[in-house]
Amino acid sequence: MKTGDTVVYLDGSFVPQGEAAVSPLDRGFMFADGVYEVIRSYRGSLFERAAHFERLKRSLREIRIDQDAAGGLEEILPELLERNGLAGSEALIYVQITRGAAPRTHQFPAAKTAPTVYALAIPFDPPLEQRDRGIPVILVPDTRWSRCDIKSISLLPNILARQMADDVGAGEAVFIRDGVVTEGSTSTLCAVFSGTVVTHPESNVVLPGITKRVVFDLCSRTGIPVAERSFREEELPRAAEMMLLSTSREIMPIVSVDGMKVGDGTPGALTRKLQAAFSEVIRSV
Ligand code: PDD
Repeated sequence: MKTGDTVVYLDGSFVPQGEAAVSPLDRGFMFADGVYEVIRSYRGSLFERAAHFERLKRSLREIRIDQDAAGGLEEILPELLERNGLAGSEALIYVQITRGAAPRTHQFPAAKTAPTVYALAIPFDPPLEQRDRGIPVILVPDTRWSRCDIKSISLLPNILARQMADDVGAGEAVFIRDGVVTEGSTSTLCAVFSGTVVTHPESNVVLPGITKRVVFDLCSRTGIPVAERSFREEELPRAAEMMLLSTSREIMPIVSVDGMKVGDGTPGALTRKLQAAFSEVIRSV
């Protein structure tokens, strides 16, 4: 299927992507006043569907958009895959809901303003080579707001950080807030200290990662100790292994931080074991 043939979902209709139009008054365009989700589909099956919808509804609740705006999407997304010929292959689904189009005022618009609901499904080529070899990352100051638990479309600090990584040939930027390692610009960060997989606890400074939840369940089932505790930048040189977790990257080994090798500079044994276990999970969905 050619890119030009992509069919998207917008406000109740399936339309060719080139014909989908959003008003310039849309508060997503004006204020980044909206939330989003990214969901993987493996052979037509939405991975961790319930968790993604739960998080989307929570994001909506937290920014006071009616949760009903997400109503129907559970049926719409499989149809979107179908209409794009993606029901049998690997795809990435993007969902965005904004507070809708209305004359520009900072306060909420009239209650009758309908949220804008958009969904896109595209073929997905997993980053297999990177996942095999691992990626370098850089550390950057966490300049984001204090509600990183909301999956807001307001991503400017994430974009700037990710570009900084790109500029130096790194695969991800990892945020440091007051000396504490929080997360990647588009991913959860885990470090292995003395055989324990450690990540920042769920709080207002990180997104509650769904891949993390799956990986931590795998750890529990295979007897790998885990801890959700915050750790500082100074502790990173003691990490035997590091990895990023996200919907699109799954489990991505980190082989260097700011040019310093992690372990021996190749993906660690525990990371490999988790990647294998994760692949098993995917095979069975
Ligand atoms: N990003 N932290 C941040 C800041 C993220 O943007 C993401 C996901 C994660 C991992 O969450 P999950 O495992 O639920 O995907 C953590 C998505 C994939 C994105 O922006 O594309």
